[in-house]
Amino acid sequence: MKILTSPSIFACDVLNIGKEVERTEKSGADMIHFDVMDGVYVPNISIGFGILKAIRGITNLPIDVHMMTVKPEAYIGVLSESGADIVTVHNDIGDEEKIKTILMDIRSYGMMAAVALKPGVPAEAVLPFIDNVDMILVMTVEPGFSGQSFMDMTDKIAKIKEYIGDRPISIQVDGGINAETAAKCAAAGANIFVVGNASYKAPDMKKALDDIKNAAEVAYNN
Ligand code: DX5
Ligand code: ZN
Repeated sequence: MKILTSPSIFACDVLNIGKEVERTEKSGADMIHFDVMDGVYVPNISIGFGILKAIRGITNLPIDVHMMTVKPEAYIGVLSESGADIVTVHNDIGDEEKIKTILMDIRSYGMMAAVALKPGVPAEAVLPFIDNVDMILVMTVEPGFSGQSFMDMTDKIAKIKEYIGDRPISIQVDGGINAETAAKCAAAGANIFVVGNASYKAPDMKKALDDIKNAAEVAYNN
C-alpha cells in the first residue's frame, strides 16, 4: 500500500484555517484528517459540517473524516454533501450489525468506509467488518485531544495486517505521530499517518511531513 500523510486540521491555527489548508497542500500532504467530536463519545467538542464544506470548497485533497460521535449514522448524508471522501466510525458505538450497516451506508454514497479502534480495543474487533472497510484506524492515543503522547500499538497493527491479507485495506494510525513513531507503526504495517502537532506546530511543515513519509517508507518496505 502507498504511504500517505493526513495532517489533522484540528491541530492547526484555527483563526487562519483557510491559510492552513493552503499550507497543508503546499507541504505535500496527501489528505486532510478532519476530527468531529460530539462531547459525548469523547470529552471534547471540535469542528463540524460547515467548516468541512468550507474546506472542501478550497482544496481538492481527499478529506478523511474521523467521527468521534455516538450517532455517526445520522450524518452520513450531510458528510457526503459536505465533501467527505473517507468516513471513519468507532467500532464501539453499537453492535456488529449496526456498525456493518453504517459502513455499507457510507459506501452507498460513494465514500470510502473505515472503522476505528481505541487503544483498549483488541485487533480481533475488526474481523466482522473486514469486507466492509477500505481503511482501519488504529488509535495511538485515547481519542479526544491533540498533542498527547504516543501509545505503542505495534502488536495490534501487525495482527490487523495479517487479518487483511491481500485485501486493499489501508491501516491508519492517529495520535502522537512523528517520524520516530511513524516508523515504528510502518514497520508493523501501518501506511496512513495522521499528524496533528508534529505537522502544524513544526517550524517547517513540509520538512516535518517529508521526514515522516521517508521514515515510514523505509520502515514499511523492510
Ligand atoms: C485525537 C484526534 C487526532 C489528533 C491528533 O483524538 O483523533 O486526530 O488531532 O493530534 P496529534 O498528532 O497531535 O496527536
Ligand atoms: Zn483523528
